[in-house]
Amino acid sequence: MFPERRLRRLRKRNLQPLFRETRIDASDLVMPLFFDETIEQPVAITSMPGQFRYPVGDAKSVAERLKSAGISSVLLFGVPAEKDAAAHSAYAENGGLQRAVAAVKRACPEMVVITDVCACEYTDHGHCGIIGETSSGEIDLLNDPSLALMQKIAVSHARAGADMVAPSCMLDGQVGAIRAALDAAGYADVPIMSYSTKFASAFYGPFREAAHSGYSFGDRTTYQMDPANGREALLESEMDADEGADILMVKPAALYLDVLAKIREIGLPVAAYQVSGEYSQIKAAAERGWLDERRCALESLTCIKRAGADLIITYYAEDAARWLHEEQ
Ligand code: PBG
Repeated sequence: MFPERRLRRLRKRNLQPLFRETRIDASDLVMPLFFDETIEQPVAITSMPGQFRYPVGDAKSVAERLKSAGISSVLLFGVPAEKDAAAHSAYAENGGLQRAVAAVKRACPEMVVITDVCACEYTDHGHCGIIGETSSGEIDLLNDPSLALMQKIAVSHARAGADMVAPSCMLDGQVGAIRAALDAAGYADVPIMSYSTKFASAFYGPFREAAHSGYSFGDRTTYQMDPANGREALLESEMDADEGADILMVKPAALYLDVLAKIREIGLPVAAYQVSGEYSQIKAAAERGWLDERRCALESLTCIKRAGADLIITYYAEDAARWLHEEQ
């Protein structure tokens, strides 16, 4: 060993690029976007500096801007004008999200449009599906009645032109149910990117302002996963793979790299979602001059890829694409 072996020999500045194992590219990144039916101008999301809720009418210009920044995939969320207990507007033929999907595809046909399939933006109680009394007498998210709702939402997104649907509500059986519904409606070619291992994370905090999806009672711990559980995390993704998921996902990303590395072994492509809180904590510290935003963001994305992500959903997508371009 030392002094014969000196690992620093290969760390000379000019040699470093030859041995870099992981590189991120704009084509790895998916930009989340919020389209709000109730606004006429973009509204800044206070808890996520640099992010906006956009009017549906801006879908074309936003898509074109992202395309010119080098972004080729987007994940769309809708904020509806009307919420109710059954989330009717989530699958409305002419819903805001559905119109935004169609407008993005019209403006940039090659853009990959993925939609979040969930009801929390659309229910008046803010939970991810249908609420009622369970067999154990508690008021909670009802699993099987909510599956029918997710089927309707996913089919409406496919009909609007989505390239891929991404169920995010952590219902048991959601991937199989959505697959069957898409196939029956003539969308056998539309892939499912399942939020297969989604933790009940406090790092989703800022998203609830962004998507107006805060809940009025309880929390999401009876359907999303306990951050403490690694083996269950693997099981969740394995079951979604068996139900026909095309892409698995770990969410949040950077705190769960051990889970990501294991889920990669299943063999399907794996996405990681760098969530709102992961974005905002870098932003907030950078605003105070405590962290170098660009370096921290790129380091975080690089490490998420190194751990096993094939694609990364990140609010930094547009900035990162620009930074990566500048470095070339
Ligand atoms: C919808 C959904 C959420 C996020 C993505 N899809 C909120 C939640 O589960 O509470 C969070 C994304 C983020 O924090 O950036 N269920």
